[in-house]
Amino acid sequence: MNSKRIWILTLFPEFFKPLLECGIAGSALRGERNEGTTSFEVNCINIRDFSTTKYKSVDDSPFGGGPGMVMRADILRDALLEGVVKAHGYRGLEDLRVIYTSPRGVVWNNKVAREFGTKALGEDPRDVVFVCGRYEGVDERFLEKYVTEYYSLGDYVLTGGELAVMVMLDSAVRFVPGILGNKLSSQDDSFEDGLLEYPQYTRPRSFEEMEVPAVLLEGNHKKILEWQRAEKEKMTRKHRPDLKS
Ligand SMILES: C[S@@+](CC[C@H](N)C(=O)[O-])C[C@H]1O[C@@H](n2cnc3c(N)ncnc32)[C@H](O)[C@@H]1O
Repeated sequence: MNSKRIWILTLFPEFFKPLLECGIAGSALRGERNEGTTSFEVNCINIRDFSTTKYKSVDDSPFGGGPGMVMRADILRDALLEGVVKAHGYRGLEDLRVIYTSPRGVVWNNKVAREFGTKALGEDPRDVVFVCGRYEGVDERFLEKYVTEYYSLGDYVLTGGELAVMVMLDSAVRFVPGILGNKLSSQDDSFEDGLLEYPQYTRPRSFEEMEVPAVLLEGNHKKILEWQRAEKEKMTRKHRPDLKS
């Protein structure tokens, strides 16, 4: 089994508690889903611990003026090199993928999540470091020197990178082989074949005078598959026609 350490450089480590404590992603990222091909360990590093200023600040005003504050390159470098590389026995940056979430990044979608899950969280021997920006962002010199890749959640601005990292981890870890209980479950999900998922039903059979579609109760597997395929098309045309164009 591969083992993968994930480091999150953040000013708000408490953000990650619920992700790590709840659900399938939580148990996978706590290293408790042993049927998976990768065993994970996630650690948060508080960037503030690497500040050398009297009031433990990590930011300063931007050169050239402008609103807000910018995270300092020297403090982020120390968090990365001292807090991760040296403290945890890495040979150097060659052992790590350093990821910054930012509106400038590759836009995250199911295809990117699958690739990230199978490669960055799976086959790639390098461990992963996420850098969570805050304020107006990070001094460009840190990004230039230390960041190997950028991802964006979409064309809007978050107040920090923490939510982006959580979304990335939650959606990508599903693609690490063995993490989802039923091997087929990610294959049936929305976007896998460019379509939305078909509608799902469970007990009770009758709910507020609405019945479960009869075909699902008849036990004819071929007919069920045909119905599911047709419903996927219908759902996609109705809710996300853009996926079909
Ligand atoms: C308030 S934002 C800074 C936005 C920056 N001034 C800009 O205009 O691009 C603070 C941090 O949130 C994160 N962030 C903001 N929007 C994001 C997005 N769409 N995807 C991923 N991370 C994002 C980045 O790490 C960023 O440094």
